[in-house]
Amino acid sequence: MITFYEKDRVFKLDTPHTSYLIGIVDEENFIGHIYYGKRLKESEASYLMRTGEPPFVPSQNNRERCSFHDCFPFEYPTGGLGDYRESCFSIRTPGGHVGSMLAYVSHEIIAGKPLLAGLPATFGSEQECTTLRIVCEDKYIGMQVELLYTVFADNDAITRSVKVINTGKEAFYLTKVLSACLDMDYRDYEMISLHGSWARERHIQRKALGYGIQSVSSYRGESSHQDHPFLALVDKNTTQEHGEVYAMNFVYSGNFRAQAEVSQFDLVRMSMGIHPEHFCWKLEAGESFQAPEVVMVYTDQGLDAMTGTFHKLYKKHLIRGEYKDKKRPILINNWEATYFDFNTEKLLSIAKEASKLGIEMLVMDDGWFGKRSSDNCALGDWKVNEEKINGGLKYLVDEVNKLGMKFGIWFEPEMISPDSDLYRAHPDWAIAIPNRPATESRQQYVLDLSRKEVVDYIYEMVANVLRSANIEYVKWDMNRQLSDLGSLSLPADRQGELYHRYVLAVYEMQGRLVKEFPHLLLENCSGGGARFDPGMLYFSPQIWCSDDTDPIERLEIQEGTALIYPLSTMGAHVSDCPNHTVGRVTPFETRGIVALAGTFGYELDVTKIPQEDRDMIPAQVAMYHKYNDLVREGDYYRIASCAQNHKFDCWQVVSEDKQQSLVTYVQVLNRANFKSKRILLKGLEVDTRYQVQFVNDEKVEPKVYSGDTLMKAGLLVPNPWGDFRSVLIELKAV
Ligand code: GLA
Repeated sequence: MITFYEKDRVFKLDTPHTSYLIGIVDEENFIGHIYYGKRLKESEASYLMRTGEPPFVPSQNNRERCSFHDCFPFEYPTGGLGDYRESCFSIRTPGGHVGSMLAYVSHEIIAGKPLLAGLPATFGSEQECTTLRIVCEDKYIGMQVELLYTVFADNDAITRSVKVINTGKEAFYLTKVLSACLDMDYRDYEMISLHGSWARERHIQRKALGYGIQSVSSYRGESSHQDHPFLALVDKNTTQEHGEVYAMNFVYSGNFRAQAEVSQFDLVRMSMGIHPEHFCWKLEAGESFQAPEVVMVYTDQGLDAMTGTFHKLYKKHLIRGEYKDKKRPILINNWEATYFDFNTEKLLSIAKEASKLGIEMLVMDDGWFGKRSSDNCALGDWKVNEEKINGGLKYLVDEVNKLGMKFGIWFEPEMISPDSDLYRAHPDWAIAIPNRPATESRQQYVLDLSRKEVVDYIYEMVANVLRSANIEYVKWDMNRQLSDLGSLSLPADRQGELYHRYVLAVYEMQGRLVKEFPHLLLENCSGGGARFDPGMLYFSPQIWCSDDTDPIERLEIQEGTALIYPLSTMGAHVSDCPNHTVGRVTPFETRGIVALAGTFGYELDVTKIPQEDRDMIPAQVAMYHKYNDLVREGDYYRIASCAQNHKFDCWQVVSEDKQQSLVTYVQVLNRANFKSKRILLKGLEVDTRYQVQFVNDEKVEPKVYSGDTLMKAGLLVPNPWGDFRSVLIELKAV
């Protein structure tokens, strides 16, 4: 619900458990942030903006206007006029100046949620959500800015975005347009962010927030392996179950910055948006610029509650398409099985064996097109290599279908190899700075997607392959980050638009793809999980989580990913040992149990793995079918983190009706002479009695306990014998 209290000039945005208050102040209509936190009954908190104490508002004390600018809690701070904290917005006017200030002009409260032109965003019907549009202006520049807020009836998230309109007569340049800001009082916060590298994505970091600026960011052209477009400020005592959390997550897949600044008055400014580095957008008179959306979550119930809010929002109001709420086919991908060394016979031999074991889809990974026999060449030549795929693609797909399996294929549409027919024909289609040798990465360049003819050409190449056979799944990869930003089609004063235009074009292409092929299951990927973000989830219901398939490495990766994203979105496969990334040998059973927390599939040569592993596949397949509804739809809870305790990892899913639950426990290294571990379960019904069964350990007899006992007193898990062993525990209401 959103209400405007006219007398007090206060907007009150209410979600089921939170309130967000915005105030209009003084004769100049400054827009201030009043409050974000637990739901309030009244709208009377505008005193929190401290306009009744020095330096007062400019109409009372213009002499100290600069001080006012420097401490007022701005709802959307613009820079250059005396607010010396880092702003969210910056402009270069026709005269070359940067200062701007926004004043409230009008507002409207709309049922539903308007689309954001060209951008992925959360959505909801007129019954499900309400949107506030505040129109503000800088009359000295000739610019309107619209601040957009949406609240949902069934969710505690609030979404924000910003649109800038040039209402003047001349073009100006936007050099920074962040999407959300929270100016709050500082309360001994800690900051949680996600970091990593290739094969080590989204590890959780928590540290104290100190004075000055602290930020996480990417200017790699994608959300990246390294940092993640997520930031949470939490009370230093916040745990999984208790305490305050302010979180932001960016519905965008390109450059971003998430930042917290603690200023001289112990005020904290938390912000998120497109990274201003390398960003400069020319806005002609009459044109507008739409910044992407930020999802904000507040809770006083700890990290589990934050996670639950994000998961529910994304499952219901972000992810789309046929597979959104459906079980995904169990796939087998040939990447780790064969790398580039495969042909029709090899793929069919894998498919034949896999189909006997209950696997439902064969995915042909990198290497099926052009002259691609290694990762040195041929990106852009999206024509089937019939020397390898002898008999043609349709034949292969039909043969796989005859086995009762679906067929999927890999593409890397955004790229071009210097050694490709496409590059030889169109060297100008690669992003590069003229007269400077372009920087290669994995021996490839990035296509200049700011050019419509490039997008159209590539889209048609990809779509033609998909039209040529019964292909039901696409893995859309992106294996290098952007550099050498230069487009031959953009004028000098628009080169700073390339990063954002690139992301818009990726969205446009994927939008086209899911429209033309509505039954396709799309899985995004970027050198593993470098573009695992809400922007991509708008197009694909699942994303490859990491190239690291070792189940122990995966514990930390999947914990960080599941902090924000539903388990239904996490691409997770069972692979062969020694693991190709870390060389670790783990039980096949544990590999299956860890992959069960994601989309589930195999990444191995099923004709070559040890017989005892192969024998376990039908049972794993059955386990997937038995538990996937629960894993996909249930509420996720974190019970123990091996990243923190270095000994074991444990998480739990509980069905919405609380009748069923699954607990996964993974031991890292076993230790001598230890007692069983006591774990406190979560999310159960206090008065319900549950039968507790150790699914993969028949020696432990099923027992019945109440939800109350299991949550308060806990459950004992016997130490498994051996390293990297895992335990799956099912709970059923009796
Ligand atoms: C990326 C993906 C892998 C695989 C290779 C193919 O690294 O993450 O799964 O598809 O590309 O080149």
